[in-house]
Amino acid sequence: MRKALIAGNWKMHGSHELVQTLVEGIKKGANHYSDLDILLIPPFPYLERIHHTLAQTPLLLGAQNLYFGTQGAFTGEVSGAMLAEVGCKYVLIGYSERRTIFHEDLSLIAAKFKSAQEVNLIPILCVGETKAEREAGKTESIIHTQIESVVKLVGMSAFKQAVIAYEPVWAIGTGLTATPDQAQEVHAFIRRIFQNQVDLANTMRILYGGSVKADNAKTLFDMPDIDGGLIGGASLDAVSFLKICEGAKQAKESGALCTK
Ligand code: PGA
Repeated sequence: MRKALIAGNWKMHGSHELVQTLVEGIKKGANHYSDLDILLIPPFPYLERIHHTLAQTPLLLGAQNLYFGTQGAFTGEVSGAMLAEVGCKYVLIGYSERRTIFHEDLSLIAAKFKSAQEVNLIPILCVGETKAEREAGKTESIIHTQIESVVKLVGMSAFKQAVIAYEPVWAIGTGLTATPDQAQEVHAFIRRIFQNQVDLANTMRILYGGSVKADNAKTLFDMPDIDGGLIGGASLDAVSFLKICEGAKQAKESGALCTK
């Protein structure tokens, strides 16, 4: 059975003031949601401080990116070992902004995925199609390629310790959300990619991301193959982030999301 995961990706947003109000706000409300995994993904400079703030709470910490390898002459980069040392349990891999703005290609993303697992970080592999790709009927082939390139390097079983986030590029930060049916269709497709390993296909968590807000969260999480969300803009405000957690809780209570 799959435990719901709600992850807040702060992107390049943050300040000491925001960290203080946001983390305290989420901490206060999070005890209502002990059946969910709640994950905060702030920018690098705030990780260690937030790790200390989250001590004695079930809230989880993750990073937005890493470089492969453990150390070396890679100025400006951060290794998985460093992230683990400051309390991260998860790391985003292949987020669409990394693929487009920073030109991360399939082989680099696969290497990062492998490197995360080598230090026991759980990679959240982000996949998704652009608007043009969707309109050209290429959604499934794009997503298949994005997943297959990682499977080729690490093998399918490596996904037992991973999460996939389906994030249609056209829905990220645009206010356009995939309809629950559109998202469900892709989530079911992703699960079918793993169907040769039935247990893995049934237990792997697949998150939806792309303009998830308080008012659309529950209808998305009600879908059978959507196991939670990767939240951008709405994760920067404790009240709206907690309302999304509430959506997951309600979906779970109606039987759509499992917690064990
Ligand atoms: P958004 O971003 O919720 O602002 O669309 C999605 C994400 O960060 O994963």
